Amino acid sequence: MSATGQARALTPPAISARKGKTPLVCLTAYTTPVARLVDPHCDVVLVGDSVGMVLHGLPSTLGVTLEMMIMHGQAVRRGLERALMVVDMPFGSYEESSEQAFRNAARVMAETGSAAVKLEGGEAMAETIRFLTGRGVPVMAHVGLTPQAVNAFGGYRVQGRGEDAERIRREALAVAEAGAFAVVLEKVPEPLARRITEEVAIPTIGIGASPACDGQILVVDDMLGLFGDFRPKFVKRYAELGNAASAAIAAYAREVREGRFPAAEHVFGDKPKTVSGGEAA
Ligand code: KIV
Repeated sequence: MSATGQARALTPPAISARKGKTPLVCLTAYTTPVARLVDPHCDVVLVGDSVGMVLHGLPSTLGVTLEMMIMHGQAVRRGLERALMVVDMPFGSYEESSEQAFRNAARVMAETGSAAVKLEGGEAMAETIRFLTGRGVPVMAHVGLTPQAVNAFGGYRVQGRGEDAERIRREALAVAEAGAFAVVLEKVPEPLARRITEEVAIPTIGIGASPACDGQILVVDDMLGLFGDFRPKFVKRYAELGNAASAAIAAYAREVREGRFPAAEHVFGDKPKTVSGGEAA
């Protein structure tokens, strides 16, 4: 690994080149151990601003700061070798101007070693995406349900139903034309996601979108059954680790209260010290 990047990792152009080929496998990660688990199986690992809700207990992603994204980005970076790491730009860190977006994206890349950032928004962000990509910042775009706009949408609703489909289509075309290397389509009707995938030249990464997308992404804690606060329809639970963890913690608490833990095999005898001064097993 190089000082600021992942020497053997997939690159944004390599991800773009997968358009229409084998589906791209993408998951979120926020910590080193989870990054190590997902890396061998994923093409893209997103340090999503969902970290605010999933790990920090925030009610939405709006309270996530640049410092939080950088800290989690650094942790994830230590666990990756192969997958492309993308770090989310948090609410308020890029919308003001292209210059603000560049300043903060450059900081994220320099301090985390990520090769790309993700930002939410379509036509309104096209100029910023053009500015960033023209200055060495690869951008993954995100249209459809963009959670940072939850207040403007009035909730986490499906976007692009009926006549609204044309708006989402225009958003996707605008970010592709502006130079994004891939675009996340979140919570849009399946036929619309399919149509956008056919029309745009860059890979579409679906979440609550369509199997026709060029790739899929889920929040890793959702698909592992670790985050139970809300269960969107688009999440398939591949495990119930939350239940397993809860049962293990209950068993530990019971054994401590009953004096059954620690047992003989978990405590130390009074063997003499070794020559080097360390404690013998
Ligand atoms: O923050 C996040 O985890 C995301 C994905 C759900 C796409 O933006």
